[in-house]
Amino acid sequence: MTAPVEARRLTKRYGTLTAVDNLDLCVQPGEIYGFLGPNGAGKTTTLRMLLGLIRPTSGEVRLFGRAPGRLDGVGALIEGPAFYPYLTGRDNLRVMARHAGVAPARVAAVLDQVELTVRAGDRYATYSLGMKQRLGVAATLLKDPRLIVLDEPTNGLDPAGMADMRLLVRRLGAAGCTVLLSSHLMTEVQELCDRVGVIAAGRLVAESTVAELRGEPGLRLVAAPAGRCRGTGPKPARPARRPGHRRRSATHRAPRPALPS
Ligand SMILES: Nc1ncnc2c1ncn2[C@@H]1O[C@H](COP(=O)(O)OP(=O)(O)OP(=O)(O)O)[C@@H](O)[C@H]1O
Ligand SMILES: [Mg+2]
Repeated sequence: MTAPVEARRLTKRYGTLTAVDNLDLCVQPGEIYGFLGPNGAGKTTTLRMLLGLIRPTSGEVRLFGRAPGRLDGVGALIEGPAFYPYLTGRDNLRVMARHAGVAPARVAAVLDQVELTVRAGDRYATYSLGMKQRLGVAATLLKDPRLIVLDEPTNGLDPAGMADMRLLVRRLGAAGCTVLLSSHLMTEVQELCDRVGVIAAGRLVAESTVAELRGEPGLRLVAAPAGRCRGTGPKPARPARRPGHRRRSATHRAPRPALPS
């Protein structure tokens, strides 16, 4: 089966700044893949390139073997949702469903999936941040995607909101959906993901299963807490590799055939 996400030597430069640097990424069907890195590491830029929202400087992207821009079967929430504040959650989704040519019945189904049915008749402006995020995820689910891309879905949420969002992501994974999510929280990807790729300064510096991360003392991954990332503490340490340690897991390294053109 063709991988939901495949990127080869993906690079994005803004003038002299290399935001994403020769990044290889492969997300396998059905896995929850965590893309972990501090602020400014290049997570959102990578996700935008994967979705065809911005053009790479160089490198290749395929989603389900197709060139970026072909997004059927793909739902994405990048850097927070955008909704009409004076419409209800339900009406916002109705507008989106109509625009996307989705059956109106999907609106009730996705509201149920994200557990917003009870508040669906309230105006979006009155929603808590966690509810806004969940409505954003509901919007990504309208077209019943096989792949969901979520950019820091728990960002700014309180512990209860984070727990709700993580439960939702787990349910999506359990239902067979492939999930690619970014985060700057090591605990989050450890809790949620099957596999994690660590990005620092635009480069993928480590990739491993979460099980390997837990049991592998030689691969030290230090993900700075949010406060540190915002410059309130010492700089996060770079991931250390012990001598001879391979950067990637041989058992989980994806095959690297040339991408179809
Ligand atoms: N349109 C742009 N023009 C110039 N530089 C940009 C642009 N978009 C992103 N960058 C730069 O690229 C780098 C990576 O940014 P990106 O938003 O991808 O990081 P991130 O990992 O998503 O960070 P955060 O955790 O804060 O969301 C940053 O240095 C950022 O300033
Ligand atoms: Mg970002």
